[in-house]
Amino acid sequence: MKTSDIHSFAEYEKTYQISIAQPEAFWAEQAEKLTWQKKWDKVLEWDFVEPNIQWFVNGKINITENCLDRHLDKKGDKVALIWEPNDPDEKCIQYTFKELHAEVGKMANVLKNNGVKKGDRVCLYMPMIPELAISIMACARIGAPHSVVFAGFSSQALVGRVEDTKAKVVLTSDGAYRGTKTIPIKTVVDEAVLSCPLVDKIIVVQRTGEDVNMQPDRDVYLHDELKKVNAICPPEAMDAEDALFILYTSGSTGKPKGVVHTTGGYSVFVDYTFRNVFQMEEDDIYWCTADIGWVTGHSYLVYGPLIAGATTVMFEGVPTYPNSGRFWDVIDKYKITHFYTAPTAIRALMAAGEEIVKPYSLASLRVLGSVGEPINEEAWQWYNKNIGKEKCPIVDTWWQTETGGIMISSLAGVTPCFPTMAAYPLPGIQPVLMDKDGNEITDNEVEGYLCIKFPWPGMLRTTYGDHERFKKTYFSAYKGKYFSGDGARRDSRGLYRIIGRVDDVINVSGHRFGTAEIENAINQNIKIVESAVVGYPHDIKGQGIYAYVILTHDAENESIENVKTMINETIIKEIGHIAKPDKVQIVKDLPKTRSGKIMRRILRKIAENEISNVGDTSSLLNPQVVEDIIQGRV
Ligand code: WT7
Repeated sequence: MKTSDIHSFAEYEKTYQISIAQPEAFWAEQAEKLTWQKKWDKVLEWDFVEPNIQWFVNGKINITENCLDRHLDKKGDKVALIWEPNDPDEKCIQYTFKELHAEVGKMANVLKNNGVKKGDRVCLYMPMIPELAISIMACARIGAPHSVVFAGFSSQALVGRVEDTKAKVVLTSDGAYRGTKTIPIKTVVDEAVLSCPLVDKIIVVQRTGEDVNMQPDRDVYLHDELKKVNAICPPEAMDAEDALFILYTSGSTGKPKGVVHTTGGYSVFVDYTFRNVFQMEEDDIYWCTADIGWVTGHSYLVYGPLIAGATTVMFEGVPTYPNSGRFWDVIDKYKITHFYTAPTAIRALMAAGEEIVKPYSLASLRVLGSVGEPINEEAWQWYNKNIGKEKCPIVDTWWQTETGGIMISSLAGVTPCFPTMAAYPLPGIQPVLMDKDGNEITDNEVEGYLCIKFPWPGMLRTTYGDHERFKKTYFSAYKGKYFSGDGARRDSRGLYRIIGRVDDVINVSGHRFGTAEIENAINQNIKIVESAVVGYPHDIKGQGIYAYVILTHDAENESIENVKTMINETIIKEIGHIAKPDKVQIVKDLPKTRSGKIMRRILRKIAENEISNVGDTSSLLNPQVVEDIIQGRV
């Protein structure tokens, strides 16, 4: 028996029509499927100018009651979470819904004992260990918004995020295993909190067992704290519009913003989208390879699957350890039926060759998914042929940290899939394409800026501590509409293909960085006067980072190797390894408009190697630099 609501193409079409004609009734019907402590008074209040969005007004709900408690009766002994460690020889851990419920209760009591109260923000800087999934739910249990920071970010990046949320408690681990490496995690936190005076408690999970600095009165080990608690922790009654979590994401300015998701709408949206996109049956096993440090891990590794009562798999390691067959090995090991990953991972494993896939059966697979960036035709075909054996639908799911859940995607086995196309808007989602003058394009076979013209329950409500920024970033470019920052094409059938970002955001291996954010980090070098960063097509990463830098007079004779090392050092310090530039070009000057603005359009063309077509340079202050840059391209 499928847990979805839509089972045929005709049903999709009908549901979509109803959802657009009567969105409030449609979403109320979906919300009824969850357990509420108190029903809402009003389904929706909204204003995309202010902007102000509220769903299920005055409703009371706890997301963990929906993930856990309500399943205990019928499926308490069903496996909820399977954890696969980095080392394939280490024992995996499985939690039934009953066990997970108990673990979350205990962790919630640990948080309470350590001073966390409803409304307090808690920062989680942890590797992919079960305690991370348990902790986010423990926070939700007691109404403390969680802010997960991907454990690949640097201590500087962590400082910015901890400071912004004013978190007093940080959860972390001693270290992390990633492939052959052991990464000191606690050390990064130690360094960060030197600049975060508000942090008065660090709860440390022992994972690697190595010696770490434990500051008395501030740092405690989780295993010691767990001895002091029981598993009973009633779910806090949360207002539908109380914050559930904050997650930082990059935009076109230098400072990442805290995307705020609230409790009621997010729960309804991830539940509805998960069940209908993936179309799981009761005994299926679902694996999403995303890290919980990103929104995909929040919505479709933890919350969505658990609300739906599905078995979800969490993987600690990397796709290439002990070899590039690891994903396929794990699929066979657990008989995974639904597999959700990113194009960059597919391309990397594709590059490893078909031979590596051959020994694996992969016969359990029925549905494949893709997320995070546009999937190119070649990767789609490879995924379809070698992994799906041409019998699994591939859902290409378009969404964003800000949207909370899937917005445009085929529904597995229900609506058709087309290579490289996200295709169908989900029921309740009203995408529109806009032209550069701000008019809605209503025809088909067109390209435009992708906006959403009606609210959906999973959308962000604000950017933490800065509502003006929320308004400016998402609701100013096109009046009365949410602007995604993506460009898209609508084909003759009305289906969508996402082209990619049209703002100053680069999507590297599915991770978002602002060009300004990377430039700020590069400019920390005393030997660099100025820099400009653009994205360019990269075979594995989707987009690579191309940095143009101007050196100071004193540094003019530095070798390119030294310059790269220098740049990498500050990038690693300010952001993390994931943001290191792929290419660096030393330039004498950057193309600028008369008002001093860098002409990124030209730099992008050069990085893409489209040098015969750099466009009009006549409005530049310094058109002569373009030829020099073209000559020196790398
Ligand atoms: C950006 C959002 C969605 C969760 C993970 C990334 C790009 C995402 C697709 C897709 C084409 C996609 C967009 C979007 N993107 N999914 N299926 N096809 N592009 O979340 O870090 O907030 O990034 O990722 O450019 O704006 P994120």
